[in-house]
Amino acid sequence: MGLLSGSGGISSSFLDKVREVAKQFFALPVEEKQKYSREVDGSEGYGNDRILSENQVLDWLYRLSLRLRPVDQRKLQLWPENPNEFREVLDEYGTKVKIIMDVLFKAMAKSLSLEENSFSSQFGERAVMQARFNFYPRCARPDLVLGVKPHSDRSGITVLLQDKEVEGLQVFKNDKWFIVSVIPHAFVVKLGDQMQIMSNGIFKSPMHRVVTNSERMRISVAMFNEPAPDKEIGPVDGLIDEKRPRLYRNVKNYAAFNFECFQKGVVPLESAKI
Ligand code: OGA
Ligand code: NI
Repeated sequence: MGLLSGSGGISSSFLDKVREVAKQFFALPVEEKQKYSREVDGSEGYGNDRILSENQVLDWLYRLSLRLRPVDQRKLQLWPENPNEFREVLDEYGTKVKIIMDVLFKAMAKSLSLEENSFSSQFGERAVMQARFNFYPRCARPDLVLGVKPHSDRSGITVLLQDKEVEGLQVFKNDKWFIVSVIPHAFVVKLGDQMQIMSNGIFKSPMHRVVTNSERMRISVAMFNEPAPDKEIGPVDGLIDEKRPRLYRNVKNYAAFNFECFQKGVVPLESAKI
């Protein structure tokens, strides 16, 4: 995990704009937001956690999830028209974050002395890019309730725009939770499970969670990439040898695999091990 400052050529004022439209959307009356409600079995749209079992512990947040790429798969009916700049800002933000993700994929491949397209070619031209707007209301009992339970992201890379003022994200390392400080105009870049798999375990997908806050609400915007569901990915050949044997199987549709693991209460990355 790391911080990307200067934000890859994206101006600070544009990042503020992204936060602003997110804030305006979540501030709308419930009836207005519900126009964009998540379909019962779908993953896109506005709402809370999908309820899968009676004793599931719910996360303390509302989300708006939208797919940006492939562009022909956009469900525009779920893209807010209010505030009226929302769609335009999200479209532009997606284009900018895509450039950052592409650069990072290449740089990470080069850093391992691999051919620069080693990761990007696995994701392919039809790679998926998903935006998730997270809204964490104030919570009276932060000691009892988490904003998001511990998890690792299923993505290749996650580019996260944190709230400008309110902390909440924590990362697990050496048996402790560490707060990820707020740096207003920097991104938090997290690698996801699919990067850990492609890099044969060299790049780590960190466990993280979000805590709640009794005084202030918090908003964050996460962008994820992953391959199309029918595209198989796996450890790059050049990263497998006698000293470092293959750690993971090839996987396809990690999103569905991740979901099944979640329902069974098992850790997806562990289940993908050989
Ligand atoms: C996520 C996530 C962190 C945050 O959406 O997967 O970890 O700061 N969000 O909201
Ligand atoms: Ni996450």
